[in-house]
Amino acid sequence: MKTSHASDALVFFGATGDLAYKKIFPALQAMIQKGKLDVPVIGVAKAGWGLQQLRERARASLDEHGGGVDETAFERLVELLRYVDGDYNDRSTFERLRTTLGEAKSPLHYLAIPPTLFPIVIEHLGAIGVGRDARIVVEKPFGRDLASAKQLNRSVRSVFDESAVFRIDHYLGKEAVQNLLVFRFANTFLEPIWNRNYVESVQITMAEEFGVQGRGAFYDETGAIRDVIQNHLLQVVGFLAMEHPATTYNEAIRDELVKVFRQIRPARPEQLVRGQFAGYRQEPGVAPQSEVETYAALRLDVDSWRWEGVPFFIRAGKRLPVTRTEVLVQLKRPPLSGLVPGRSNYLRLQLTPGLTIDLGALIKKPGEGMVAAPTELSLVRSLEDAMSPYERLLGDAIAGDATLFSRQDAVKEAWKIVEPILGEVSPLHLYEPGTWGPAEADRLTQAFRGWDSSG
Ligand code: BG6
Repeated sequence: MKTSHASDALVFFGATGDLAYKKIFPALQAMIQKGKLDVPVIGVAKAGWGLQQLRERARASLDEHGGGVDETAFERLVELLRYVDGDYNDRSTFERLRTTLGEAKSPLHYLAIPPTLFPIVIEHLGAIGVGRDARIVVEKPFGRDLASAKQLNRSVRSVFDESAVFRIDHYLGKEAVQNLLVFRFANTFLEPIWNRNYVESVQITMAEEFGVQGRGAFYDETGAIRDVIQNHLLQVVGFLAMEHPATTYNEAIRDELVKVFRQIRPARPEQLVRGQFAGYRQEPGVAPQSEVETYAALRLDVDSWRWEGVPFFIRAGKRLPVTRTEVLVQLKRPPLSGLVPGRSNYLRLQLTPGLTIDLGALIKKPGEGMVAAPTELSLVRSLEDAMSPYERLLGDAIAGDATLFSRQDAVKEAWKIVEPILGEVSPLHLYEPGTWGPAEADRLTQAFRGWDSSG
């Protein structure tokens, strides 16, 4: 959805923080390289820093996470960069921000800060009048359940119109996630089979080899369901299950996404297996008796004409054997096919780290008999040079295009789906790091050929 004007300044709160360091500065450099950023960039933080320190931080960030410093782009970044240091509780910080904004009339405010600070910053932006004609980017998590999501929304909407709110779910900015829509709708051969008549089940696996990486305190408040299932993986379900968006109006994709979310039955604790990797409780910031899940596997059902009776299995976990997000669309067995060993008749779509599409088929085993054997035809594309989600999404937000951002009604529907499985609603099973999580999860997919861990 594109509103009329581009933002004329980018303000990012949390300029000295982790997200800015890992994602925002690299995105800014990439945008400058492509000639897509030419407005003042104002960092705000409470660090007791000056502009020079922020520049040094930006350089270090590009070195470590931006594929190296491009001196020409960096020079331009330095010209655009401003810094306001101050407490978010202090009105004078925002008055200095207003002065620094100068002539800019419609800035983009990016809240790269802990969610507890959102309401405070938003209130100040409203009070000093730099929320008018502005846009705001909010980072996940959008609340920690339905009630708090609504509350956060009220706070945001007290100053910003919905059309000015950009809720980032970086999964929507991923090349391979967007490809799901293109692949589905640009290929005639898929549409006839992309439904309950041919699809037996769908599996989505988000495996991460690493653990909580120093984010213990955050993670222990969050857990796998809130961290990646309520948002990232439900978006993937949405892209896989939704109907073709109309091409005649801007909000069509987001409308279809909400429509399909409304058709997903709220998850049930009996269809959930929670796990925690051994050693998690010793991580800094984690409670010694923590019952928080670092792994979750569940089944969802989509009550739509297209998908009735087709289970959507999701599993996500930390400290698993690999780092990979994949979708497996398992097709039904052909009639009279008998039992051929191994899995066949499927499409496997890898979303991270690269983009791969595997077509699992049966072909004749060379030799005398007419024997079928499983084989895979694979399309492999490296995404190393792909635009990063943050570069894409920041560019879209500055341009006023909200298509790839979560709309509030979708956020609410997503919380409704996971609300019954939040917290300690089912037993927590320990699993060894480097394994595929608790064996108990196998029962979910037992009648559907088990989990696919082979891709
Ligand atoms: C984040 C989660 O939103 O997404 C992390 O908080 C997770 O726990 C990350 O590791 C995964 O995203 P990506 O793009 O690095 O695969």
